[in-house]
Amino acid sequence: VKRSRVLGCGTYLPANVVTNQDLERRVDTTDEWIVQRTGIKSRHLAADGELTSDLAIGAAKRALDHAGIAASSIDCIVLATTTPDNTFPATATKVQAALGTGGFALDIQAVCAGFVYALSVADNMIRGGQARRALVIGAETFSRILDWNDRTTCVLFGDGAGAVVLEGYDGKGDSSDRGVLSTHLHSDGTQYDLLYVDGGPSSTQTVGHVRMHGQEIFRHAVTKLSGVVEEALAANGLESTDIDWMVPHQANRRIIDGLARKMKLPPEKVVLTVDRHGNTSAASIPLAFGEAVADGRIQRGDLVLMEAIGGGLTWGSALIRW
Ligand code: ACO
Repeated sequence: VKRSRVLGCGTYLPANVVTNQDLERRVDTTDEWIVQRTGIKSRHLAADGELTSDLAIGAAKRALDHAGIAASSIDCIVLATTTPDNTFPATATKVQAALGTGGFALDIQAVCAGFVYALSVADNMIRGGQARRALVIGAETFSRILDWNDRTTCVLFGDGAGAVVLEGYDGKGDSSDRGVLSTHLHSDGTQYDLLYVDGGPSSTQTVGHVRMHGQEIFRHAVTKLSGVVEEALAANGLESTDIDWMVPHQANRRIIDGLARKMKLPPEKVVLTVDRHGNTSAASIPLAFGEAVADGRIQRGDLVLMEAIGGGLTWGSALIRW
């Protein structure tokens, strides 16, 4: 196998939309503050009883339909999530049962960088011959780990899921370089305390809530992201002017704009969903990618740059020729 190609993609959002004005009624905040600091205007929140696996299954079904392949031909599911249905088993196994896929299924935990991590794991498994066709999913019900009394975090996040189908390809009969060109991962555990959940099975036996040093995260974000983007471009002998679309993790409009400016990438090449989705953690990249493919902005053959940073810290990038 020469590389993995992306056969299709799909997205799924809970029906319930919560605007900043809705939040003004339950949190000490304003629409103006949220829009100015983050660019977020609304987000989707899962209904009671609507689980991460439900969102993941919804996105996965649409990705399979879009790829035009049967679930039974999938032999690997890699699901990135920070909000699994249960502490164990992996939520991916629930998705496997619902779809009727074979092979094996595992979860990846890299918070907001989760999708790039999952893509990298699946791509390497395909290139290593351990899988032939993989579903890569980012799915979160992040609202379940928010402290709704902490206005500095609860206004930032949303729920949702996105998925892509990867297939191993031997490179024969196609002179284009379509597929996952490369992925680049980093983590720095010395920054563990900048963004974390204050609970868990081993420490408190509770689920816990998100705690974040927002300004510190902001300080790391643009520098680390531009570094890992440069790494991806250099590995492929490309310049930022070669990029057709940047599909960033959607944490914050200011981080996205800052990185695009640093890369001298015009705003019309950047896919933005943060205004309508908020930060959906591992789901944000496949949600943005799926939306831009569905509305025809991203065309076959386009060079797409994905990048993300999240708790850990963890960060990474991926270059894909769609
Ligand atoms: N509504 C109104 N006022 C608020 C709110 C709110 N929701 N939240 C905080 N404030 C107030 C604070 O209390 C503070 O008031 P004070 O000056 O009277 O003490 C004031 O606003 C400024 O607070 P800061 O924390 O300094 O605000 P800042 O400008 O840093 O913006 C933000 C906060 C948006 C979180 C910013 O730091 C940021 O974007 N950081 C990046 C973190 C991020 O995006 N994390 C997402 C997860 S990680 C990831 O996905 C990359």
